[in-house]
Amino acid sequence: MSFTIAIDGPAAAGKGTISKAVAAHFGFAHLDTGLLYRAVGAKTLDGTDAIAAAQALVAEDLEADNLRSPEVAQAASRVAVIAEVRAALEDFQRAFARRAGGAVLDGRDIGTVICPNAEAKLFVTASAEVRAERRFKELVDKGLETRFETVLADVKERDARDRDRAEAPMVAAKDATVIDTSALSIDDAIAAAVSAIEAARG
Ligand code: DC
Repeated sequence: MSFTIAIDGPAAAGKGTISKAVAAHFGFAHLDTGLLYRAVGAKTLDGTDAIAAAQALVAEDLEADNLRSPEVAQAASRVAVIAEVRAALEDFQRAFARRAGGAVLDGRDIGTVICPNAEAKLFVTASAEVRAERRFKELVDKGLETRFETVLADVKERDARDRDRAEAPMVAAKDATVIDTSALSIDDAIAAAVSAIEAARG
């Protein structure tokens, strides 16, 4: 039996952490769909055409070391506006969502485009300032030199591009439960997500 949990929202809202915890809680498989766009984005930094890269993407590409860098995040957001890139990644995501035993997919368009019939949908968000603060701390912890203002500008630029694009823009599905993590601890955000999904499970 398949059961799909769609978790969408902007960068650094806590989607990744919540998705991993929810997958562990229910014993479901987890796919971070941002990694697909990051892997394509990373290839374009070497000069490869984005559409060709998306069509040729293989599982090992998702294990490249640099996928978490700010440059690759921006490149991912840029290739994600291209309809042919999105189309090339659809089948893989839909097959993953329908796997037996349940699946959690997190991204921007899971509840709206990839899995409009998902059994449970969440939209995880937080203010741009809170998200930039979290991302800034992560980068500093990794030893990267950066300024808060740079990270905030980066977050806002990516939000605008992801939200204002014509293809599969980032938006909460009408039937999604919105969780604003701005003032929530990680544990409280996870608890809110689990209880919303339990409610959908009936
Ligand atoms: O979730 P993330 O920050 O790793 O995603 C990187 C970029 O990929 C994001 O800015 C937009 C794009 N993306 C998308 O368009 N659709 C998805 N389902 C996931 C990510």
